[in-house]
Order: sequence, then structure tokens, then C-alpha cells
Amino acid sequence: MSDRSRIIRGRVLTFTDDPFEAGSSARIYLEDGAILVENGRIERVGEALDILAGAPQAAIVDEYSGCLIMPGFIDAHIHYPQTQVIGSYGAQLLDWLHNYTFVEEQKFSDPAHCVRIADFFLDELFRCGTTTAMVYCRVHPQSVDAFFAAAERRGARMIAGKTMMDRDAPEALTDSAQRGYDESKALIARWRRRGRLDYAITPRLAITSSKAQLEAAGALADEFPEAYVQTHLDENRDEIELVAKLFPGTQSYLEVYERAGLLGPRSVFGHCIHLADSEVAALAASRSVAAFCPTSNLFLGSGLFDQARLRNAGVRVALATDVGGGTSYSMLRTAAEGYKVLQLNRQSWPAAQAFYRMTLGNARALTLDQHIGSIEAGKEADLVVLDSRATPAMAHRMETANGDLDVELFALIMMGDDRAVRQTYVAGAPSKT
Ligand code: GUN
Ligand code: ZN
Repeated sequence: MSDRSRIIRGRVLTFTDDPFEAGSSARIYLEDGAILVENGRIERVGEALDILAGAPQAAIVDEYSGCLIMPGFIDAHIHYPQTQVIGSYGAQLLDWLHNYTFVEEQKFSDPAHCVRIADFFLDELFRCGTTTAMVYCRVHPQSVDAFFAAAERRGARMIAGKTMMDRDAPEALTDSAQRGYDESKALIARWRRRGRLDYAITPRLAITSSKAQLEAAGALADEFPEAYVQTHLDENRDEIELVAKLFPGTQSYLEVYERAGLLGPRSVFGHCIHLADSEVAALAASRSVAAFCPTSNLFLGSGLFDQARLRNAGVRVALATDVGGGTSYSMLRTAAEGYKVLQLNRQSWPAAQAFYRMTLGNARALTLDQHIGSIEAGKEADLVVLDSRATPAMAHRMETANGDLDVELFALIMMGDDRAVRQTYVAGAPSKT
């Protein structure tokens, strides 16, 4: 966090509500705007000349002429131990987990490796404009400590948790129902609500957790109602078949989690592709969140997320990269692939809705909108500065946008990635120096 006053000047764009429901009036756009940041928070936002006139003399002024300044992006589902798994060839979910992911994740028994990867991971998120993420760590508690410590050093708002797995994985990667409970509880005591950090109880998926372990996770959720829950659901057809075999007597995959007490407004279920109607209804009734992970779903050949079906049923939706099943850390790239997935289901996704989702929408999905997700006085100063003309091809494309913001935003999603990120501010401090 920077303790000096700072003014960040450019084209300020922030959403005030979901444009899907509220229409195009759900945003604030200032062509020559500025944000006054003090002690990591947004003090004021408005027309640049007004902000400059009223700011302290000693304030640093960062000028981004022509660039868009938006709230930092939020990634609702990502795995930090998978930075060296991305782009592993030729497998669908269960083979990919066993052949690549579980092999790689064993390296996290080495604390030095955890620190190195946590540092790389956070720097890469910031380089892509992501300032908050909901993160799976490894089964080893030191992987969680390393991650939270790295996030704390950077002043970042992060949610993370120890992966609980007590079966169907190499021995080096498994705990037990009791150990998973004890280690998670100790980590919760250490990291819950600590500064900008929050804990997520993290049973990986129903295949790698016994009934006893899922119940232990449910007991933790009961004991610590302010903690989040994250897991995977209905990603792949072979996975779903195996869950049905492992939990005879349950009518659906989600029912396995429901019986363990794992549904609720702070629960985020990754993927949610092959859902039965009863599962959609249970997600909606419990106010649980479905995380749409388009690059992962395409890469692992998992299937097409049906956003319209979930929306119509009242299910809360988030957007996520799911690195390393996902193939990009960039939320711009993720939204672009999301658009294409929805196209295959004949669904549309205007740029305003996608940018809302990457910012305020995901903040609401993670119940963090009192802190982040929009640019307004009192909120934490996590910001991304985007250059829609970052590459020759983008600059060339923007020549025909003719000043139409929606045209610019859509092309920015389709063509943009880390190259479009000029700067990222985390609690008011620039991450690129
Ligand atoms: N299901 C359980 N673990 C994982 C994971 O690491 N990635 C993806 N895509 N799906 C999972
Ligand atoms: Zn995942």
C-alpha cells in the first residue's frame, strides 16, 4: 500500500449494476476522469480538472491519456500450483489430473518451491490486470502459508484454501478426513479475515474426498460461516459417472455436496456444465455461485456452459480462468473465449456485461462488493489501466470504432490480453515500476 496521495488520470469506466438487468445506464464513464487515492483507498473520483484542483499539492499524478481505467479484474477460480501445468497436451479431465496435475502438485511439499511459485503466480495475475482471485492451493499447509504470505506482502485482496483430498490421488498428495479438518482449521485460524485475506474451505472434488472428508468440510463451513467454500462440479461426463458410482444412493453430483452441508451464498462451484434441472434449482435456492471457466472447458473438451439457463433459473454466476486447466491468466482472453462458448449455444454476451462480470459482477459473486469491484469513494484502490490500441492490430482495428465505447470494449475483449494492460494498481500502489 502506498501512503502518498496519488491521482490516476484517464478514461474512467466503472459499473454500478448489472447491465443485463439495468441496461446501459448501469455504468459511469468519464472521458477525462481522475481518481484520488489515499492510503490504499479511493478518496474521490470525478472530472480530472476537479480532482486535480482539490488534491493535495504533493500528490503524485499518473497520466494515462487515451487509456481506460477500470476496477482490477477478479478471477473466481484458479489453481496456483498449476503454473507449470498450463498447456499440457491431449487429455480430458481425469487423465489430465492424474498424468499432469497430480505429478506437478507433488513439488509443493518443498516450501521453497511454494514461495517461488506463489511469487510468480501473483506477479503474473497483476501483469494481466487481475487484482483479486479465489485460489486453490495444495494439500500441504505450507503451500497455503506461502501463498497468503506472498499476497499479504503485496497488499492484495485474495481468497485461498488448502485443497482437501483423502483418496484417488498419489499418497504424497492426500491427507485424511481428520487431517484435512485439523489442517484447514489451523489455517483458518491463521489467515481468516486477516487484512485483505479470506479463507476458502477447499474439498477438491467429490472423487478425491471421501464422504467423511466432505462432512468434515461441511463441519468447518458450519463452524466458520464467514469462510468461503470452493470445489468442482459437473465438469466432465466421466467424472460425473464416477461420482455416481462412489456415492450410490445420491440422485446427483450436487446432492453429494448438499448432504455434506457445502452449499450456500459463499460457495463457489467450478464449471457447472452438465447440470440436471434439480441441480440448477438447488444452486439457485442455496444462492451458491457457478463459476464459468471457458478456456478450461474448451481446452479439456469438457463442454459448453449454459449461462442463459442458469441466469433464467436465478443462479449466481462468476467468470474464472481455472489456470492451469484454463490456458490464460488474462480475464480479457477468458471473456473472449466465454463469448465464443456462448455463441455455440446461440447466446449473446455484450462487452458491457462481460466487463461488469470481470469487475463488479465477480465482486458480488464473491460477496466482496463492499470492498472492491467498482471505482467509488471508500473502496479499495485496485485498478487496471487498459490500452485498447496496445498492438498494431488493435490500433488498426480501433480506427473504425469511431468513438463508440461499446465497439471499443468488445474489440478490446476479443483482441486484448496482458499486452493491453498498461498498469495495475494494488491497494493504490502500481505493480509495474
Ligand atoms: N477438478 C478437480 N481438480 C481440478 C483441477 O485442478 N482443474 C480442473 N479443471 N478441474 C478439476
Ligand atoms: Zn479448477
